Amino acid sequence: MGDNPLPDFDAGAHVDLRIGGGPIRQYSLCNDPGIKGRYRLGILLDPNSRGGSIAAHAELIEGAVVEIGMPRNHFPLVSAAKGSLLFGGGIGITPLLAMAYTLAERGAAFDLHYSVRERSRAAFFQELTEGAFSDHVHFHFNDGPAGQLLDMSIALGAEPDGRHVYVCGPAGFIDFITNEARMRGWPASQIHSERFDADVDKSGGSFEFVASSSQRSFIIPSDKTIAEVLLAAGVDVPVSCEQGICGTCLCDVLEGVPDHRDLVQSDEEKSTNAQIALCCSRSLSPKIVVRI
Ligand code: FES
Repeated sequence: MGDNPLPDFDAGAHVDLRIGGGPIRQYSLCNDPGIKGRYRLGILLDPNSRGGSIAAHAELIEGAVVEIGMPRNHFPLVSAAKGSLLFGGGIGITPLLAMAYTLAERGAAFDLHYSVRERSRAAFFQELTEGAFSDHVHFHFNDGPAGQLLDMSIALGAEPDGRHVYVCGPAGFIDFITNEARMRGWPASQIHSERFDADVDKSGGSFEFVASSSQRSFIIPSDKTIAEVLLAAGVDVPVSCEQGICGTCLCDVLEGVPDHRDLVQSDEEKSTNAQIALCCSRSLSPKIVVRI
């Protein structure tokens, strides 16, 4: 690390990772944030991936030099929470591991529910069973006996009572946990999720897009995203996931009403229409002016 130690990060943070000339992908930092100068990633080898995990497994060997971004956190712990319920599905356990370390160090009330198809596929199993917070961990194996399957009425308890839910995993898992919590009266402001893969609907009608710094105007056609049009015109647009899940492309809206398609802003943030994700969102107004 020499004179440039790795910047600190908070639980829930991720980094952009690029291997070779491959695609940029986002991976959660899953080690104890209290231990400085170290980043650990947990990357599931997915043969159906768009290249990120395959490259990572082939090329992330000791001594390899890789390009990463600064840690960014769209999935932070709420410090005022009276308790935290962490739900991880499959490799979605990674940000929750960092959260568990932080909460355990704070002496906070929390439970970590880890749902996985079968025990042999559980990542970080030993750490979860033998680590400092193992008393807080509940495993739910799909192929295990009925008594250990995830029962949301037990996991969530009676009342939200100032507690917050955090969920990460496949889209279906996130939807399931989120819906169960909502059905049981948990307000949206106390349910937090992070997706690592998403199919975002980018279709829609055409509209005018104005980049405020240059006052250049672009027509965004129905089959292109704002980012695609701007990049093709040589405008420097910060993009990374291009799926509406990382937040890299969020820019301030100065005029107009966004048609939010991203999965990174909360409903509350979207309702302010203060920012728009250029990789996927569109415009409800015929014209939108954005600070870029
Ligand atoms: Fe990731 Fe737009 S590039 S949200």
